[in-house]
Amino acid sequence: MADTHSDSLVFFGITGDLAYKQIFPALYAMTKRGQLDMPVIGMAGRPWTIEQLRSHVHDSLAEHGVVDEATFDKLASRLQYISGDYHDPATYQKLHSALGNSKRPLYYLAIPPSMFGAVVEGLQQAGSAENARVIVEKPFGRDLASAQSLNQILHSVFPESSIFRIDHYLGKEPVQNVLYFRFANSFLEPIWNHNSIKSVQITMAETFDVSGRGKFYEETGAIRDVVQNHLLQLLAVLAMDPPSRTNPDAVRDEKGRILRCVRPIQPSDIVRGQYRGYRQENGVAPDSQVETFAALKLSIDNWRWANVPFYIRTGKDLPVTATEILVELKRPPEAVFDEVEPERSNYYCFRISPVVKISLGARAKIAGEAMHGEEVELVAVHQSPDEMAPYDRLLTGAMEGDEEIFVREDSIEAQWRIVDPILNKATPVFEYDPKSWGPAEADKIIAGNGGWHNPAPSKQTGASGPQPAKEQS
Ligand code: BG6
Repeated sequence: MADTHSDSLVFFGITGDLAYKQIFPALYAMTKRGQLDMPVIGMAGRPWTIEQLRSHVHDSLAEHGVVDEATFDKLASRLQYISGDYHDPATYQKLHSALGNSKRPLYYLAIPPSMFGAVVEGLQQAGSAENARVIVEKPFGRDLASAQSLNQILHSVFPESSIFRIDHYLGKEPVQNVLYFRFANSFLEPIWNHNSIKSVQITMAETFDVSGRGKFYEETGAIRDVVQNHLLQLLAVLAMDPPSRTNPDAVRDEKGRILRCVRPIQPSDIVRGQYRGYRQENGVAPDSQVETFAALKLSIDNWRWANVPFYIRTGKDLPVTATEILVELKRPPEAVFDEVEPERSNYYCFRISPVVKISLGARAKIAGEAMHGEEVELVAVHQSPDEMAPYDRLLTGAMEGDEEIFVREDSIEAQWRIVDPILNKATPVFEYDPKSWGPAEADKIIAGNGGWHNPAPSKQTGASGPQPAKEQS
């Protein structure tokens, strides 16, 4: 193992939901690949025994349908458990002894941000912070001011290069593929600007509602839950300038730069929605004004994107589950053929989930006498059943010290700066019917720009672009 590789993993909040749903399967996959050759120390308040933790891990893996007992035994043999109060120095003493001669521990803080201060101070006072790395979960703060103060708390003990802020979208294969596709090909860059691009739409739609997460959602809402992080990171990947290979932090530099060019959103550029029935969810206030849907228009104040609107739309209880980006190209400057071309004949479409698809919408002539055409879609698909799950990729990356797939301080703060003016009920919330595309008011956000593009259900992968179209390989 290289000196820069972490040599122990300490997971704060190991009895929680995140560990059960995401982390245990990721640790299992790493164990299976032979990439988890280190102690894994679970921390939590509950007075569990190590056997209880092991059987909890086994339950999680069985639920994910991944247990092969030999791999599980290997993982189980690396597990340790420390139960204690995060405010008590004795907890950190116990951890210090459990760490033995670990030189580069990785601390994963899956705990409420209000505990970050106590934990990082406890680690430092016990002498366990030196050379260590720390992973922090989303949401990172509630607004710009709280994110800045969390950054200050973390920086009081850890340098920025040791802080790994999670946005699990950055661990997704298709998101990496957008970055790759943009900068591994030469045909995009000449058109990737206001000269050729008319508008960009990012839709993240989910058919499921917030059942079981009402309390969390009441404190979050769609803007804090997915716009401030996942969707603005997607926007950054789409809009950033090419990174230079000579600078190891170039991708994050470019992302930070473009995010700083995004104008803070004004209340007139957002419509918030709430599905009918949300207020009856457990943990939701009967008069809740929290949004489960948001449609927004963003502007990027730089040369490349002058006057190109970027639209974001997301919601729960919509007709499909899909995340899709539509980059609409301008029409040819003159109509040469005697036909009425539909809107959106030319586009790039990046389908991020649930299936991966990158396609280019074009027009081709229909055989025959008339110079009339039809829509076709040129499809580049990359789908590997063996792809790493996001948390597997992120944990592996953090252990290797690969900062690129984590969010740096400047981007986090820029992202909050963009949404700060529209937080906290800054605009009314409109009701919408479950399994609809949100409130009708959302149409006014995109009026005059061709309307919203609704991703097709994933079964029809060949036709997820704006119009049903023939595919060409
Ligand atoms: C999470 C949000 O960060 O991302 C959820 O809290 C959302 O509300 C989820 O459903 C979507 O992630 P994915 O990977 O399923 O697209």
